[in-house]
This record gives sequence, structure tokens and C-alpha cells, in this order.
Amino acid sequence: MHSHLGEITVTAPGRGLRAIGAASRFYARLVTDSPIVTALSPARPRRSVGYEFETVVDDTIDEAEDVRSLLLSRRDGAPLPTWQPGAHIDVTTPSGSVRQYSLAGRPGSGDHYRISVRKIPGGRASTEIHALSRGAVLRVRGPRNAFPMAEAEHYLFVAAGIGITPIRAMIERAVRDGARWTLYYHGRSRASLPFVALLQQLALTSRGHVIVKTDDVDGFPVPEDIVDLGMGNSAMYVCGPAALSGRLRDESLASTAVREFHTELFAPAAVVDGMPFVLKLDRSGDTIEVGAQETALDALRRSRPDQPFSCRQGFCGACVVGLVAGRVEHRDRVLSPSERENSLTLCVSRAAVDGEALVLDL
Ligand SMILES: Cc1cc2nc3c(=O)[nH]c(=O)nc-3n(C[C@H](O)[C@H](O)[C@H](O)COP(=O)(O)OP(=O)(O)OC[C@H]3O[C@@H](n4cnc5c(N)ncnc54)[C@H](O)[C@@H]3O)c2cc1C
Ligand code: FES
Repeated sequence: MHSHLGEITVTAPGRGLRAIGAASRFYARLVTDSPIVTALSPARPRRSVGYEFETVVDDTIDEAEDVRSLLLSRRDGAPLPTWQPGAHIDVTTPSGSVRQYSLAGRPGSGDHYRISVRKIPGGRASTEIHALSRGAVLRVRGPRNAFPMAEAEHYLFVAAGIGITPIRAMIERAVRDGARWTLYYHGRSRASLPFVALLQQLALTSRGHVIVKTDDVDGFPVPEDIVDLGMGNSAMYVCGPAALSGRLRDESLASTAVREFHTELFAPAAVVDGMPFVLKLDRSGDTIEVGAQETALDALRRSRPDQPFSCRQGFCGACVVGLVAGRVEHRDRVLSPSERENSLTLCVSRAAVDGEALVLDL
């Protein structure tokens, strides 16, 4: 049975859950630390990872100002699916919001997932997650990996604030593999940064180096200086706000210090090269204007605040709606060519032809 809760469709527990439990034990045996995990968590993430289960909060840990970690285990006692650094899970909060959280622990560390959540002022899901205590049940889907880590001789990791979560897992992997690594870690203030002591300890016992800078002492990050920490053969992994990430990307392209650049954003980047267009809702007959600087999702949610969404970056599929007419500039990473013929993602895709309306099955 499916119920529509808040921002995404969730599946109610029951016979399906037991079947999922059995499938998960098989899955966990199949994929434990095997290369098949990469195939199941491809760089081009799929909308349906087909893997959804309930977890129990085993512990909560206050890591830094407004940052709380949750340790999650499976409610049915089955092993958790294994994952690779950079992976995240979709978490459904008790009220039905679905949000992504990176797995911040040590990959392959077995019984628990660790997620670390920054409480955003006015944030719906993060506020709810901070109010959870031991024993609470959370529905989880995934893991999914849109930020996979390739092998490199030297890693240049850059994390801004809570962007440290996927990077911490990558560092654990670099340490395990004996690779050289440098972490540039920037935040508002020292008190706002989780895991500093642990990361410094990891650096002491491996081939790593940690640089911590904060706005209140050092001022804002300087992209040129950060990219200069590369050693020519470095793979750069960045998790932080879109503006910083964009400047680091430009800088790394112009530099010989870094060989490759990878990034993940926790919040969507601003709309680029947008033209205004119109949505027509086929069933209700409503017409909605979408401005050049906003998404179809944002415009639609003004009159339909319950319209489902999740990642707002075109990779989870939560906002997909049917297309009745109109040509679409698809900007997502989730729909297949055949799905694109009759559907679109509202969070990133736009009208392809100036002045032509998109008619939606709504
Ligand atoms: C792949 C991926 C991994 C993520 N991993 C983590 C993680 O490990 N830890 C973590 O804390 N978050 C993570 N996030 C962000 C998380 O999914 C939520 O977006 C975040 O918790 C805010 O959700 P909310 O419901 O509290 O805020 P909402 O109710 O969705 O938003 C409230 C307001 O806050 C703004 N806002 C939303 N997100 C942010 C943000 N990150 N910074 C500043 N303002 C924001 C919104 O634009 C809105 O105005 C990740 C996101 C993605 C896509
Ligand atoms: S909200 Fe995730 S694809 Fe649109």
C-alpha cells in the first residue's frame, strides 16, 4: 500500500517489508565489499535504488554547534547494505519530508549508519531530526552514490561546514588505502565544525594533513590558495556551497596543481541560463508563470505547497510529473530517454522553446 506523505510517496510496512528484509540479507551477502557496489551505486544515480527499509535510532551524538549525529541500525536486525565513500541515503522524517544525508562513518563498518545533520534555521527536516531521540524509527532508502571516489595518488579534500560528512568517509578510505591526502576544512567558527579532533588524529596516524580555517579568525576561503595545495597528481573532492564550489572548479581548471575535480552540493545551485516560461495544468486548468531565475517546482509550490520534491538537483526523481504537451529542456540526471518523452523533473527542467507552454498531467 502506498500513502502520499508530505513530499514523497512512501511504502507502508507489512508483507512487502518482510520481503525486503529477506532480499536485503541476500543483497548484503552479495555486495559486502565487492566491486558490484560501484555498479549498484553508479555515478549517474538512478531514481529508484529499489532498497527501502526502517531503521532505529540507536544513539544521538552532539558533534558541534547545531550538528547532531544519529547512529542508525536496521529495525528488522538484518545487515545494512554496504556503501562506498560519497554515498548518501534518503531519510523520511516522521512527518513525511524526504531529505538526503551523506553517510559519514567508516565505509564497511557494519552494523550502523552514521548521519550528521546541521540544524537549518526554519528547516523542516533538520529540525525534526534534531528532536529525535534513541528508539525513534526512521524510514531510509538507498544508499545511493552521486559522489564516487576514484583512486588517486594524492587527494585534496575541501569541506565547508557540514560538507565534511561525505569527505570524512573518503578520508577513512584514503587512510585505509595508505594514500596521501590533504584536507582543507573551513567553517564559520571552530565551534561549528564537527569531527576536527578525529580528523587531526587520523592525519597523525596516516599520510594526511589537516588545515582548519574559520571566517571569524581567518576570513573567507581563498580558492587560489586552496587549489595550490594540490600536488600535480591530486584528485580534488569538494563539498560546500555552490558559489565556493564553482570558484574552486574554475580555479582548478586553470591550475596544474590538480588533475581532476569532483563536487557535491547539499543545496541546489542558482538557475543558470533560464528563460521565463508557462506551465499549464491539464487537469485543473491552472496557468503558472515561471520566472527566469526560479524553477518550475518553486513556481508550482506557490499555489501547491504539497507538490512532492526532495533533492532539488535533478537526481532523486521525487518531483517527476507527467508531460501532456510541450518540448522540454531536460536538465536532470535521473530520467531515461524513454521516460523523458512523457515526463519531466520539475526541480531543474524547463521549457525548451521560448514562449511555448509545458502542459503537465496535474
Ligand atoms: C546528496 C546530499 C547529501 C546531503 N548530506 C547532508 C548531510 O550529511 N548533513 C546535512 O546536514 N545536510 C545534508 N544535506 C542537506 C539535507 O538534505 C537538507 O537539505 C537539509 O538538512 C535542509 O533540510 P530542511 O528540511 O531542514 O530544510 P528545508 O525546509 O528544505 O529548507 C528551509 C530553508 O533552508 C534553506 N536551506 C536548505 N538547505 C540548506 C543548506 N544546506 N544550507 C543553508 N540553507 C539551506 C532552504 O533553501 C530553505 O529556505 C544533503 C543534501 C544532499 C543533496
Ligand atoms: S527533487 Fe529530486 S529530482 Fe527533483
